[in-house]
Amino acid sequence: MTIILGIESSCDETGVGLVRLGSDGGLELLADEVASSVEQHARFGGVVPEVASRAHLEAMVPTMRRAFDTAGIALSDVDAIAVTCGPGLAGALLVGVSAAKAYAMALGKPLYGVNHLAGHIAADTLEHGPLPAPTLALLVSGGHSQLLRVDGLAGGITEIGSTIDDAAGEAYDKVARVLGLPYPGGPPIDKAARRGNPAAIAFPRGLTGPRDAKFDFSFSGLKTAVARWVEARERDGEEVPVDDVAASFQEAVADVLTAKAVRAATELGIGTLVVSGGVAANSRLKELAAERCAAAGIELRVPRPRLCTDNGAMMAALGAHLVAAGVKPSSLDLSADPALPVSTISV
Ligand code: KG4
Ligand code: ZN
Repeated sequence: MTIILGIESSCDETGVGLVRLGSDGGLELLADEVASSVEQHARFGGVVPEVASRAHLEAMVPTMRRAFDTAGIALSDVDAIAVTCGPGLAGALLVGVSAAKAYAMALGKPLYGVNHLAGHIAADTLEHGPLPAPTLALLVSGGHSQLLRVDGLAGGITEIGSTIDDAAGEAYDKVARVLGLPYPGGPPIDKAARRGNPAAIAFPRGLTGPRDAKFDFSFSGLKTAVARWVEARERDGEEVPVDDVAASFQEAVADVLTAKAVRAATELGIGTLVVSGGVAANSRLKELAAERCAAAGIELRVPRPRLCTDNGAMMAALGAHLVAAGVKPSSLDLSADPALPVSTISV
């Protein structure tokens, strides 16, 4: 039995997770503590890197304490440490990496510098067990929108497609701002959309033409189309039907994401789709993915919302997969890499 400590600080969430790796390779979640600085960024409409870094610094030790209290174990029970070393905000990543190095040195335990995006995929294994190989992953967060072929979480992630401009979550956050809804925009748009008519406005579906890159995404045009539509209404002195705009925007996002994911799985002959990252918490995305996967005979896996957004448990889970596969730990002089490619699962 092995206990893995996971540390996450790539954006505005300080996450500490504890996962037990059983002798059969099964994972058990012992603790998942998150401290968010989201409220400090809300009035800026996006994450302010310096503010996030300082918040991580303040939250790291208390969050660590809460995680060990919840799990009812001691620091000395930890067998290995996994920390997000990229991609993400440089200053924010550095806080987690420095903390992880300090714990690894003090405890004399191996340290794994791991990829945040691979962690989002690993999150699902905490809830639904090992991933079949290959699995197609649709990773949709505030910073990324990607389709990935996953042949193994300890090595073997290949990008099939990605966004050429805004990430899906970024589009949610920007559209929320246009609609006067709070940051981050995903949850309030999701809520408003449930009251609105998704067919009210025909917003564009980016990169869905016959000559477009079939597995890449584009959300910038959609975001601009929503902004123009709202501006035109306001110029005419008309009230903006927020619920209908939210529902129509959300439908366009969910439609494109699920259509491309199902097409990729079908064309590549992959039988399982896992959807993860903050936007995977979206109710319409899950509903449409379930409908389309069922019709195409694809198994769909979506972690519970708490595991979709940034957390330390997913990094601990990824660390556990590396330990189980006998992957070599990282060197103690590892550094944060804000642009770490998804194919680099550990450094
Ligand atoms: O994965 P995540 O927590 O952080 C990053 O790595 O970026 O994702 C955050 C993003 C934000 O853009 C947020 O608006 C979006 O996930 N999000 C949602 C929902 N909950 C969070 N988007 C749509 N629907 C939701 N229910
Ligand atoms: Zn994330």
